[in-house]
Amino acid sequence: MEIKTAEFVISNTDYNKCPDSRLPEYAFIGRSNVGKSSLINMLCNRKDLAMTSSKPGKTLLINHFLMNGNWHLVDLPGYGYATAGKKMREQLKDIIEGYILYREQLTSLFVLVDSRHEPQKIDLDFMEWLGENGVPFSLVFTKLDKQSHVKSVESVRAYKEVLSKVWEELPPIFLTSSEKRTGKDELLNYIAEINATLK
Ligand code: GTP
Ligand code: MG
Repeated sequence: MEIKTAEFVISNTDYNKCPDSRLPEYAFIGRSNVGKSSLINMLCNRKDLAMTSSKPGKTLLINHFLMNGNWHLVDLPGYGYATAGKKMREQLKDIIEGYILYREQLTSLFVLVDSRHEPQKIDLDFMEWLGENGVPFSLVFTKLDKQSHVKSVESVRAYKEVLSKVWEELPPIFLTSSEKRTGKDELLNYIAEINATLK
């Protein structure tokens, strides 16, 4: 799929106030600073459609982007924003959980993990929470350009091993780098295939 148009629509704290449309939504979630907003820009061929920062905690709202006029890409705040106060962490948790559990338009969720790290408890706990709530997801490895291909392959293998202990079936896996534009076609084609089944 080619992205011909990408427009910012609206930011919200509440899934109820998100766009009142029946368009399918594809959302990116993951630890703060993992590269969610950067990946959205990469998919849209835009530098700063979604705001990014080298410091964690940049995205604090649910952001809707209208893609090709017929589906939404959704940038969510990250979890595990360690330096935020307790109240803010709880607010962010409510925003994220409300959207994921109750947003009917949510068609597919992508959980992003940093390809440089071994499986982290915070991410595994989050995936377990998704499983308990019956929310399917795909796994997206980010920042592949930051290390050798061999190390990235090892990260994927380690994740598969840990996930196979808990899950009967592994989620779809994508390898990406926003810097090098890796994984763009794979992600967009996956979304296009799902969109085609909804017509
Ligand atoms: P929050 O909004 O705070 O939850 O973070 P986020 O997950 O949206 O991360 P963001 O896209 O803002 O990226 C965080 C930092 O990582 C920025 O400095 C990005 O430039 C950098 N970054 C993101 N993706 C990549 C990548 O693929 N390669 C490299 N080298 N850096 C990346
Ligand atoms: Mg962000």
